[in-house]
Formats: sequence, structure tokens, C-alpha cells
Amino acid sequence: MSCTIIVGGFFGDEGKGKVVAHVAYADKPVIISRGGVGPNAGHTVQVGDHEYSVRMVPSGFVYKKAKLCIGSGVLVDPRVLAHEIETLGVKGRIFVDKRCGVITEDHIARDKGSDHLAKKIGSTGSGCGPANSDRVMRIAPQAKDVPELAEYLLDVPKAIDDALKKGKTVLLEGTQGFGISLYYGTYPFVTSKDTSASQIAADNGVGPTKIDDVIVVFKAYPTRVGEGPFNTEMSFAKSDAMGIQEFGTVTHRKRRIGGWDGGMAQYSAMINGCTQAAITGIDHVDKSCFGVTEYGKLTKKAKAFLKQAEEDIGSPITLISTGPDITQIIDIRDELL
Ligand code: IMP
Ligand code: MG
Repeated sequence: MSCTIIVGGFFGDEGKGKVVAHVAYADKPVIISRGGVGPNAGHTVQVGDHEYSVRMVPSGFVYKKAKLCIGSGVLVDPRVLAHEIETLGVKGRIFVDKRCGVITEDHIARDKGSDHLAKKIGSTGSGCGPANSDRVMRIAPQAKDVPELAEYLLDVPKAIDDALKKGKTVLLEGTQGFGISLYYGTYPFVTSKDTSASQIAADNGVGPTKIDDVIVVFKAYPTRVGEGPFNTEMSFAKSDAMGIQEFGTVTHRKRRIGGWDGGMAQYSAMINGCTQAAITGIDHVDKSCFGVTEYGKLTKKAKAFLKQAEEDIGSPITLISTGPDITQIIDIRDELL
């Protein structure tokens, strides 16, 4: 039996979706359940010629044998969910906890119409902030109150507990990143909930004693969308010259790019209770590492970067992503742990 949490170590968009998909194929979980805020998240998973973007469905959906769940802590937008269920063909294996908060058109209008949220903070306009605020006020609808969600309802914590008791593997995927945690991020330029591993466990109703591993995903060159401090940010002229250009999955805004932040990685690993780390975008450190699948084939420059990053994080780097496709990854978990 094992229960692993995968979370973002910087400001989101670290490539969690891809790491979750790889780990799912490798570890064969019976349940992949997501925590995190809601449809403000955007995960990209590339499998061969297909690039999928998901905002509600867990990014591990590409592994077809797992039941897909959305934990109680997550906000569900029934319209976004219906669209993804339809386009991804996951009907029959997707479930929503009956207690999830529900995003209404009014929440979206309030998010987009608020100068504070939309302009000052740079929110995604997906209604999450106002919906979480209504949830705290205890006036937001829950999944069990919404007829369109009736067919998907499940007691997610119970389903996870049953699987773990049978000795099965469960993956809990986080969304967003450590730097935009409501508690630990760059307040007020943060999202509307904590994003650390403990929160992801709570979102899914899994007690801390049941968690075996916390994989924190860091990007070699971190990015940030929206406003707020970013210590290692570089100019677009510099990042463009390095060939790094990224756009948000949800809002299509150009992402701000920065260099490796060792201090932030250390603090993030500490609060997340990191047991192992994944590094994505190593091909931006050295282009000749693109698509490499064996550690031994990485260049000296890439290995030196990983050594420093591992010292900062304080836990072994066991997964190294070398490109966007789910096969472009080095997995040395068996050798190191
Ligand atoms: P909100 O979560 O839509 O309220 O937006 C608050 C801040 O968090 C904004 O700077 C967003 O760009 C950022 N944010 C929210 N979700 C994500 C995510 O999944 N990845 C990256 N940034 C995010
Ligand atoms: Mg994203």
C-alpha cells in the first residue's frame, strides 16, 4: 500500500501534470484524486501527438485504469467539468466528492468584475476566490445540491481509505504551487487556499499518518503568472534569448520567467515535508539534454545543476523531466530509495 502526494514547489505550472501522468503509468494507482483550489488550475499533459489541458479532471486521467476523483476541498465548476468529461471521454471513472464547493456564474462575474482580484492580484477569473469566500461564509452550494453532479457523487475519503486498506496505491495530486499558497506564499498575491502537501491531504480527507511520500515538483527555471514578487525574475529579453517562452493554460497570459531560487526551494521543501523531488525543464539548463531518458546521458552542466538543486531541496531528486512528452523523463526512484 502506498499513498503519494505530488505538489508544486514554486509558483505553479511546474509540470506536475506530466509528472503525475508518468508516476501513474509507473506505479499503477487504483485512484488518482486531486486536491487544490479548483478550475483556476491548468495542467498540460502531452502524450505523443496529443496535448491535453485539464482544469478539473485529475491530470493522471491518461492512465486509464485509475478511478479519478475530485476531493472535498476542491471547488467544482460543473460547466468546466462537463466539458472535460465529454472531450476526454472519462465518464464512468470520474467522481466528485459530495462536499465539494460549487462555482456559480455569479462567482465568475464577481472574480472578473473585481478590480482587487482581477487587476491587483491578477486572478484567473475562474470564480475561485469568490466561491471560497462564500464557502467560508457557509453560503456556497455543495456538489450534493447540484443535479448535474448527482451521477458523479462519491465519498472520496472513504473510497481512498478502502483502496489503501486493500494494499493498493493511491496518488493525490496538488494544483497551483507553494509560492501562491494563501498561508505561505507572497500574500496578498496568492490564490484563495493553502497549496502545500498538508492541504492536499486535507482536501482529499486523508489523514497525515497515511501519507508515505511527498514528491515536490520544481522547475529549473520557475515561472509566475499574475502579479506579485518574484525574486529571481529575469527580463523577457533574457528569457526569450534563452528560448524560454511560456503561456498560461487557463488565461493564456505570458508567464514571467525566473532563475533557480535555492532559498525558496529549501523553504518550500521544508513546509511540504518533501521526501523526494522532481525537476522539470532540465533541457532549458542544457539543450542537449532534451528527451534524454537515462541519468548517465545527462551532461556535466545538467548534473552540476541537479547537484546544487538537491543540496538546496535537502531530499533526493528522483524524477528529471527532459521534455514535454510523458516518455521524456528520467526516473531513478528505484535506484535512490
Ligand atoms: P486565483 O487563484 O484565480 O484567485 O488567482 C490568484 C493568483 O494565483 C493569480 O496570480 C493567478 O495567476 C495564480 N494562480 C492560480 N492558479 C494557478 C495555477 O494553477 N498556476 C499558476 N498560477 C495560478
Ligand atoms: Mg498550470
